[in-house]
Amino acid sequence: MTPQERITELREMLHKHNHNYYVLNAPQISDKEFDNLMRELQELEAEHPDMYDSNSPTQRVGSDLSKGFKQVAHKYPMLSLGNTYSKEEVAEFYNRVARALNEDFEMCCELKFDGSSISLTYVDGKLVQAVTRGDGEKGDDVTANVRTIRTIPLELTGKGYPHEFEIRGEVLMPWNVFEQLNKEREREGETLFANPRNAASGTLKLMDSTVVAKRRLDAYLYYMLGEELPAKGHYENLMAAGEWGFKISETTCKCSTLQQVYEFIDRMDTVRKTLPFATDGIVIKVNSLRQQKNLGYTAKSPRWAIAYKFQAERALTRLNDVTYQVGRTGVVTPVANLDPVQLSGTMVRRASLHNADIIEKYDLHIGDMVYVEKGGEIIPKITGVDLDARILIGNKVKFISECPECGTPLTRVDGEAAHFCPNSANCAPQLKGRIEHFVAREAMNIESLGPETIEMMFGLGMIRDVADLYTIEPSDLMFLPRMGAKSAENLITGIKASLNVPFERVLFALGIRFVGVTVAKRLAYAFHNIDALMSASFEELTAVEEIGERIAQSLLDYFSNEANKMLVERLKVIGLKFELDAEKLHDRTDKLKGKSIVISGVFNKHSRDEYKAMIEKNGGKNVGSVSKATSFILAGENMGPAKLEKAQKLNIPLISENDFLAMLDE
Ligand code: IVH
Repeated sequence: MTPQERITELREMLHKHNHNYYVLNAPQISDKEFDNLMRELQELEAEHPDMYDSNSPTQRVGSDLSKGFKQVAHKYPMLSLGNTYSKEEVAEFYNRVARALNEDFEMCCELKFDGSSISLTYVDGKLVQAVTRGDGEKGDDVTANVRTIRTIPLELTGKGYPHEFEIRGEVLMPWNVFEQLNKEREREGETLFANPRNAASGTLKLMDSTVVAKRRLDAYLYYMLGEELPAKGHYENLMAAGEWGFKISETTCKCSTLQQVYEFIDRMDTVRKTLPFATDGIVIKVNSLRQQKNLGYTAKSPRWAIAYKFQAERALTRLNDVTYQVGRTGVVTPVANLDPVQLSGTMVRRASLHNADIIEKYDLHIGDMVYVEKGGEIIPKITGVDLDARILIGNKVKFISECPECGTPLTRVDGEAAHFCPNSANCAPQLKGRIEHFVAREAMNIESLGPETIEMMFGLGMIRDVADLYTIEPSDLMFLPRMGAKSAENLITGIKASLNVPFERVLFALGIRFVGVTVAKRLAYAFHNIDALMSASFEELTAVEEIGERIAQSLLDYFSNEANKMLVERLKVIGLKFELDAEKLHDRTDKLKGKSIVISGVFNKHSRDEYKAMIEKNGGKNVGSVSKATSFILAGENMGPAKLEKAQKLNIPLISENDFLAMLDE
């Protein structure tokens, strides 16, 4: 067998095993065997670059070469569906269709997946394009990102697929991935995704498909379009698509009476609570393509289909008490303590009340019967009060005016909903929270120090701030309960090892509000050391890529606080790294210092992301839109007409790809 033949064989095998694993959930070989085949293919492909194929299973890992998104017109517009919220409205739809057709008809009933819709084009069995819904007429070409979704076949199996067709479906982020992603974002001080739908569409729009690949998206397909489809019925086409390797929900079924549709609705309302991803209803479609065509479309949606939306899951329970939690940054969150109640498969005892405004809005009283909902969010929330159930009126819930932990009067920043405890220097949960953040994996990575040990050492007065960690002696640990000799040794070793953690992570570890891992890195590369950062002005801070006013202000606040300055001084003396490693400074220059640069158009020599990195590496700032403050536009081919016009009006120079590269070359 020639290497070329082996490559082809390996690709076929891996496509098949991918499908068995991800779509059928029935792997036929072990993960290790799979990895071995994959490695063999990677090596062979590296040796034979002429065999490159963007649909090879090796390409699932993603590439960072995405060059911004091309807008693509949909061949068939992507319409939405009419919504109904009751069985009566479903009956109205059914009767409308029956009258219009005046003959027997079947319906296909499906789950309504709550993700981000996608349209895939296949030519000769190969995925050639994936486009988002966009405005229904045109969407973003997100092919590179979609290639990383393992449940979407890059090449079809079986036979009988049309030469060219489109198939549409929903890209989903499973609940567990969503929850993990939000946890990470919370740790980094980034805004959280409100629900898996936003997370899925946000992920599809990422520029770097290697990041997309890591987010483990899933996809269900539910609509095939084309000139030469295999069958005359929608359901039958979906079943054929299943044979070709697409993931089609097993719940999809045909119904021939309204009664059967009702039964499907009831069944799915139970089934969906056990599914690993979000659904928000069901979709009922007339099955015959001929009948679909007869019924036609309104301006916005087909007359042959309708969505029935599930009632958001809600439970009624008693509010027993409101307690308050103080976070690491001092934000005070009210928490409702409830009579335990079953909701979406879990027992709920506590729900977030978010802030004082919500308490006021519902005029909450202790003992009230409140509605709890589990939306897309991880923590259930209170969404209303049943005033009719208020027989005895308990005490009105009044938001506290002093910190429940340290008694300091709370403050509220104008325009922000949250109350703060300003006593960052002495409030226990803030102190402990900062230490927990400091030792976290992405920060100083002192793994052996868990929250219980921190609590214990804090309680005994051994540590009050992160600098105290470095004063701990092995002999101090002997007295701690559940701390054996081995754990003590690990702890001391872990603390010592953290002295080698690079500056950007030390900066993140300080726990400055809004300074997550990525922002810390940007700051470290922009200012090189803590002294430069501490003395930077608001303007100097916001001149750095990705550093907005909110982050800049937070940095100024942090470094104007005497206690924080002292802490940094102590950590410096202890020997933590407050300077970027010399080798990381290598090949960084000031050539573009102070320059605000807009990138526009399509480039030949480097990707957009590479140009972005070059701008930053040379001290410049990449901005999105043209304004008076723009220094120049790095202009590729086919630059957007709006940008071009604005640039001409404001007299902003256009610099070509070649001139830009020459500018950076000595
Ligand atoms: S069919 C012309 N089927 O719901 C009909 N849509 O409100 C095209 N959706 O944009 C859509 N599950 O993103 C269809 N089983 C399903 C669906 C589904 C979710 C989404 C889709 C669409 C939106 C319409």
